[in-house]
Formats: sequence, C-alpha cells, structure tokens
Amino acid sequence: MAYLLNDLDHACHLLRQGALVAVPTETVYGLAGDANNPEAVRRIFALKGRPAEHPLIVHLASTEVAHRWARHWPEEAERLAQAFWPGPMTLILPKAEHVLDVVTGGQDTVGLRVPAHPLLRELLERCQRALAAPSANRFGRVSPTTAAHVLAEFAAEDLAVLDGGSCPVGVESTIIDLSTTRPRILRPGRIRAVEIERVLGRSLSEERADAPRVAGALASHYAPERPCWVLDRQELLARIEAAHAQRRSVGLIHVDPELNGMPGIAATCPIPFQQPEVWEERLYASLRELDHPGIDLILIEAPPRLPGWEAVQDRLQRATAATRGDWP
Ligand code: TXA
Ligand code: MG
Repeated sequence: MAYLLNDLDHACHLLRQGALVAVPTETVYGLAGDANNPEAVRRIFALKGRPAEHPLIVHLASTEVAHRWARHWPEEAERLAQAFWPGPMTLILPKAEHVLDVVTGGQDTVGLRVPAHPLLRELLERCQRALAAPSANRFGRVSPTTAAHVLAEFAAEDLAVLDGGSCPVGVESTIIDLSTTRPRILRPGRIRAVEIERVLGRSLSEERADAPRVAGALASHYAPERPCWVLDRQELLARIEAAHAQRRSVGLIHVDPELNGMPGIAATCPIPFQQPEVWEERLYASLRELDHPGIDLILIEAPPRLPGWEAVQDRLQRATAATRGDWP
C-alpha cells in the first residue's frame, strides 16, 4: 500500500537504503531515488513502467552541487542558474563521467534541476543525495500535483509519499538544452522563452526536439483515459448539446461561467481566471478530477493561443492527442 509520510528523517533513511520516495516539487510530484544507486534508479523505471531509453532529471540541493554533475559548466548555464534556480527549470548538459547510464538512458547528456519546493530542498540538504526523479505517474498518464494523486496512481505499491500540499506551478519544468551550439527549449514550462532569451542575450533555436530523447515529446503523453477535446466557444456549445442529445455525460474545463448550467454537463472544473499561470496550476488536477467512470468525455474551452501560453497549449495538445478521430 502506498502511504503518506511526514517525517523527513525517515524519507532520508528510505532513500539511503535505495528505496523510492514520492516527493513534492513546485512543478509536479516526483518519484525519487538515489541518483548514484543503479538499483534505485532501475526501481524508478520499473514502477513507472517507463522505457529505459527515457532519461531522468537529477534533482540537486544547489547550483554548486549541480556543477559536479556536468562535464563542464558553460557560462550560459551559470547565468540561467542564477536567474531561475531554485525553480522550475531543467538544464541539459554534457554529463560528468560518474553519472550513471541508467539515469541518462545511455546518453552523453544529463538533465539537472535545483527545485524550489521547501520540503524537497530540506530533504536534499538533510539527505546529502542527488535524487533522480521523473514525474510520479505511470508512464503516459497525467502528472500528479497532489499527494493524493500519487497515492491513487500507486495505490497497490509499497511507496512512501511525502506530503507537501498541492504543487504551485502545476506543469513540469521548462527543459533547456545547452548541450548543442544554440540553446533550445525541449519542453515549455513556467519559465518562458522570452525570459530565457533575456537572460541569455540571444534568441533560442526553434529546432524541434527529436521524440525519443524527451518522453514528454511523445504525442500521447499526459493523457487522461477518457476522450478529450479542446474546442473554441461556438463548437463547444454545439458539442455540449450533441452530447446531451446522445445522453453522454460531459466533464467540462472552462473559464466562461455561463457554460456551467448547460444541460448534459455532469461535472465542471472552472478555471477562475484567464491567465496561463492559473491554467497551468489547475490543468492536471482538473483532468484527473474529470477522468472518472461517471464521465464519458472531457471537453475543454480553448484558452488563448498567445505568447505565454506555450506550456498550456503543449500539455493540452498532448492530453488530447490520444483522442483520435471524430466525435463518436
Ligand atoms: O518538473 C519536472 O521536471 C518534474 C519534477 C518531478 O522535477 N520532472 C519531470 O520528469 O517532469 P519526467 O521524467 O517526467 O520528464 C523529464 C523529461 C523527459 O521528457 C526526459 O526525456 C527529459 O526530461 N530529459 C531528461 N534528461 C534528458 C537528457 N539528457 N536529454 C534530453 N531530455 C532529457
Ligand atoms: Mg513525466
């Protein structure tokens, strides 16, 4: 049985023994194990059901510690670290010699992040271990943003879950690849491209990431089990009516309060403000809340396609990518 844990010393003890602990981060919960212990890292892959070639992010207590995990530390890494760590940013750098192949999926680069969540920072300092941690969900599912989500995800497993409340950012870290000549974003997140470009003093490469390197780049990642559509207002209204006529129950994620009372809607997750940060914070929790047997399909009122909304648009695209074909 997965269980809640509030004792940091016990969490340290488990990690030092090579056991896994689910930990809160400011982005999403992570499934953490000692990054220097190959058995622990293998356990992460097994528990998640994740293919071995998908690398893990290493979480560290400070930028100084992060230096030791990269083969060299470019000036641009230092500038980004000073601007955004501790925080929701992962840097991809050529790996140091000692970094285990199981962590990097055999690649020559490693993903590094100094997280901001106070409980995890305290754990990293007390434990004196680097923690490899993917998001604490089964491979391909929606990332967890509360301890309860993690318990539900791994209910039958013997897994300790450190409860740090709900994750304030709500989507995974921005991943910046610094291993090639021109930096590029592999996964959009709370730290935006414009902010990164401002710090770097040059523009990022637009080149797209190749799918196998980034698990999150698979089309149907982060998907709920129910079919899921993102629709502009007019189409949304038509689809809600159609669903009602077909006696299909709709779970709705929306901003417009007027949509609330429409017949056929079985459950709603209102987003209180039309702001990307608010969408980011609520999106995964909303998808999880609506992904239950009383709901036949999930409809989402399309948020703006504007600068600053990249992370929301990216996760929505992935959440809906598994919904193939037309309206049933
Ligand atoms: O916010 C986050 O980043 C969360 C929290 C727990 O820190 N972690 C997270 O981990 O989202 P995960 O494993 O679900 O996603 C990590 C992504 C994957 O898409 C992986 O392929 C990519 O980072 N990644 C890790 N190391 C990499 C590397 N060396 N090169 C390219 N991509 C890498
Ligand atoms: Mg993930």
